[in-house]
Amino acid sequence: MKVLALGAEHAAQYRELMLHGYQHAPDAFTSTPEERAAMPLAWWVERAADPAGNSVAFGAFADDQLIGSVAIELSPRLKTRHKAHLIGMYVLDSWRGKGVGRQLIDRALEHVKADSAISLITLTVTEGNAEAIALYTRAGFQVFGIEPMAMLTPSGYKGKVHMWREVACDTAMRE
Ligand SMILES: CC(C)(COP(=O)(O)OP(=O)(O)OC[C@H]1O[C@@H](n2cnc3c(N)ncnc32)[C@H](O)[C@@H]1OP(=O)(O)O)[C@@H](O)C(=O)NCCC(=O)NCCS
Repeated sequence: MKVLALGAEHAAQYRELMLHGYQHAPDAFTSTPEERAAMPLAWWVERAADPAGNSVAFGAFADDQLIGSVAIELSPRLKTRHKAHLIGMYVLDSWRGKGVGRQLIDRALEHVKADSAISLITLTVTEGNAEAIALYTRAGFQVFGIEPMAMLTPSGYKGKVHMWREVACDTAMRE
C-alpha cells in the first residue's frame, strides 16, 4: 500500500471512491451522492489538485486501486491563510482497521507541516462516529465544540464535533 498526492490523472478514480463513500457512509458526510455525482470531472480535478494550491487530496493505493483518501482545504484569504481544514476522509470497508486512515492523516499532516504559513488544522466529524473520532484523537486532534443539529439526515438531526490541532505540536500518532 502506498499513499500519494492525487493529480488530475486520478480524478475519475477519486470521484468513484468518494461517491461510494457518500453512498455507503451517508452519516459521515454532509454531501449526498446525488449532489456530488452532478459535479463535472473538472470539479474533482480541482479538489484533488487545485492549481492555486487551495485544495489537495491524498490517496492510498493497493496496486492501482484507490482504497482510501483524504483532502486538505486551505484558505486563500490573508487573515485565515494559517488554517487548514481536513475533509473527505474515507477508507473502503474491506481495508479498514489496517492503518490506512492513519497513513492518510500522516501524509496530510506532512503536507501542512511543509507550509510554514499554516499553524493549525481543523476538521468536523459527525457526533457518534467513534472510529473517526478515535482516529483523529490518536492523531493529536482535540474537540473544541459541537455544532448541534448540523445535518438533517433520514434518521434525524446529527451534531458535528469540531476538532483541531496545532500543526507544530508534535503529537505524532503513538505506535
Ligand atoms: C474512520 C476511518 C477513515 C478509519 O480508517 P481506518 O483505515 O480503518 O483507520 P486505521 O486502521 O488507520 O486506524 C487508525 C486509528 O483509528 C482508530 N480506529 C479505527 N477504526 C476503529 C474502530 N473500528 N474502533 C475504534 N477505533 C478505531 C484507532 O484509534 C486506530 O488506531 P489504533 O489501531 O492504533 O488503535 C474509516 O472507518 C472510514 O472510512 N469510515 C467511514 C467514513 C468516515 O467515517 N469518515 C470520517 C469522516 S469525518
